[in-house]
Amino acid sequence: MELKYEILCILESHRGSYVNGASLANHLQVTRAAIWKVVKSLQEDGYQIHAIRNKGYCLDLNNDILSYESIAPYLIGKAKDFIIQVHPKVTSTNTMAKNLANEHAPHGTVIIAHEQTEGRGRLGRSFYSPKGTGIYMSILLRPTINLEDSLQITTNTAVIVARAIDKLTGQNSKIKWVNDIYLDQKKVCGILTEASVNYELGMLDYAIVGIGINVSTSNFPESLQSIAGSLLQNRPSHPPISSQLVAEIINQMAYLEHSLKNELSQKVFKKEYRERSLLIGNDIYVHKGNDCIEAKALDIDDKARLIVQYKDESIEILNSGEVSIKPLFP
Ligand code: BTN
Repeated sequence: MELKYEILCILESHRGSYVNGASLANHLQVTRAAIWKVVKSLQEDGYQIHAIRNKGYCLDLNNDILSYESIAPYLIGKAKDFIIQVHPKVTSTNTMAKNLANEHAPHGTVIIAHEQTEGRGRLGRSFYSPKGTGIYMSILLRPTINLEDSLQITTNTAVIVARAIDKLTGQNSKIKWVNDIYLDQKKVCGILTEASVNYELGMLDYAIVGIGINVSTSNFPESLQSIAGSLLQNRPSHPPISSQLVAEIINQMAYLEHSLKNELSQKVFKKEYRERSLLIGNDIYVHKGNDCIEAKALDIDDKARLIVQYKDESIEILNSGEVSIKPLFP
């Protein structure tokens, strides 16, 4: 392992307390000057590392920079076998994961970035991905499942991410059909699943599950200000959560194949998906091309389709598409 990552690993495992420079140098068989040089370079990368003569180095408790070293201590079970790469800047983690998948990267390859320059959302939209304030992650899965089961990947992921957000923030997140996660009526997370299918076998070849979470983003572009929010936007003194949140999601995603094949588990996921629904029972708009049609969201069926009723009492079952919640006081 490169010296930089060895030092980061040690500082991560002692986060909040000082590690003596001399023992660090001794342990890694390098000079103290070499350690100091690496610490300076980590500081330049944005890591909050305190350096005190005769005391050593301490990674600040509030440091929230994602690295393999910061995530690994929280991984459990099958997730420990996942191959996690963290990059400072990429175009899109989904694009990168897709390229790797086409070069035969294995199941469980995870691409994470501190920043995306061309983050992609559903329906050809972009996903705002500024540096260091969000989680931008894509997970390559190669489950041996049929196409019907594969349709539940996104909805199951939405439940997994919502649970993880609640666990780390103590809040009660909601899911806006199909796959957006909301806190306090603001979108804090979007999920983009891209799949490659083997039609001859009727099986999934691979799926890239892209998850974008606004953790502390506050300076959204004007077009997003009324729609988007972040997990810790109004809680500046909350301790950092990014590494644990990433690990919690990967820990659960590692068992997704098992869940998709398990009837009982699917029942639980579908029930929770409905319970967390932001739409069921509410007045909404269904967007079709340039039209915006008033409707009521009645239910979500077992195939994750949204059942809506229009003003003329007619009912439609939507497979996909775009809907928005009708404001109570327009
Ligand atoms: C949406 O809101 O429409 C879905 C957004 C998905 C964003 C994530 S961020 C990580 C991954 N890489 C991308 O380019 N997109 C997804």
